[in-house]
Amino acid sequence: MAEPILEVRDLVKHYPLTRGILFRKQVGAVRAVDGVDFALGRGETLGIVGESGCGKSTVAKMLVNLERPTSGSIRYKGEDITRLSGRALKAVRRNIQMVFQDPYTSLNPRMTVGDIIGEPYDIHPEAAPKGDRRRRVRELLDVVGLNPEYINRYPHQFSGGQRQRIGIARGLALRPEVIVADEPVSALDVSVQAQVVNLMDRLQSEFGLAYVFIAHDLSIVRHISDRVGVMYLGRIVETGTDTEIYEHPTHPYTQALLSAVPVPDPAAREHRERIILTGDVPSPTNIPSGCRFRTRCWKAQERCALEVPALAVPEWFGTAGGPAAHDSACHFAAEKQVVPVDEDGDGPG
Ligand SMILES: Nc1ncnc2c1ncn2[C@@H]1O[C@H](COP(=O)(O)OP(=O)(O)OP(=O)(O)O)[C@@H](O)[C@H]1O
Ligand code: SF4
Ligand SMILES: [Mg+2]
Repeated sequence: MAEPILEVRDLVKHYPLTRGILFRKQVGAVRAVDGVDFALGRGETLGIVGESGCGKSTVAKMLVNLERPTSGSIRYKGEDITRLSGRALKAVRRNIQMVFQDPYTSLNPRMTVGDIIGEPYDIHPEAAPKGDRRRRVRELLDVVGLNPEYINRYPHQFSGGQRQRIGIARGLALRPEVIVADEPVSALDVSVQAQVVNLMDRLQSEFGLAYVFIAHDLSIVRHISDRVGVMYLGRIVETGTDTEIYEHPTHPYTQALLSAVPVPDPAAREHRERIILTGDVPSPTNIPSGCRFRTRCWKAQERCALEVPALAVPEWFGTAGGPAAHDSACHFAAEKQVVPVDEDGDGPG
């Protein structure tokens, strides 16, 4: 991997569960994020994928300091930003910007597009362009493929895809090095999703951006990710390069997610095996002992209830090397090709 720009170690966010009106007593905790590790290289894209409620947005919010971690560290260029405050924190925050999931609710309907995109300059005047701010905003509109003449329009005058372009322009205003995109295309029509992903791809090479790209669907992140982390109930259970994850998954949960990805080719579709997970995702207030996936895993054995599997390269792959030798938190990690591999190696979608 390229030199890491962000390094996340044992990141935890627990929300206290309290009871009582006069005397509030903590009776438990929502373990929304429960020990997440990853590194993000310069100019690289890390895809984070997992079902609803697994803690993706909570990770995103901690990265941009909208939530404070319960414990763990987030290093930006080697410095732990969870310990910063005041001016030092502000300077770092400028470099890590967020693009939100829902472009319908994340843009203030009473502000013009020009004011929305230029708003970060009010918060960070030190990073505002000298002289004509509106000129810079027009340039940003142009960069994201919108007509600069639209600067005085309001959000309701734009389509969903255009609104997300506005959200991206705002994210770019301070020239950040990292963009955390929390399901940036999930609220958009399928036909528009690819356009926005392609735009983000182009901006990445143009501005040397690193992305944390969050999605609940594996097919969306494949195209843009260099590496992928699969999350389940507050933890990353498998991580590797896109080829390792899509073509050589070793964790049963990843295999199940992949088996649900739409395959456009009918012949290929017939040959693939659907893995249907039984049971519901357990509550993050009551996480199963041992392997947290065991209540839904078709391979679970006694050991799975007793020992927490570490996120590491399984020993039996370590010596052999090859694409199956990547981090997988499973006592019985084994390769299983779920999705037929395309000729162009680009997978589904
Ligand atoms: N402020 C909060 N107080 C208590 N629990 C919370 C809070 N915010 C999130 N949670 C819980 O933490 C868990 C993780 O939520 P989070 O929003 O991070 O999931 P997600 O993976 O982004 O889900 P989705 O795909 O639906 O966006 C959920 O069980 C959620 O209900
Ligand atoms: S450790 Fe056990 S329960 Fe967990 S994924 Fe592996 S086989 Fe399934
Ligand atoms: Mg979310």
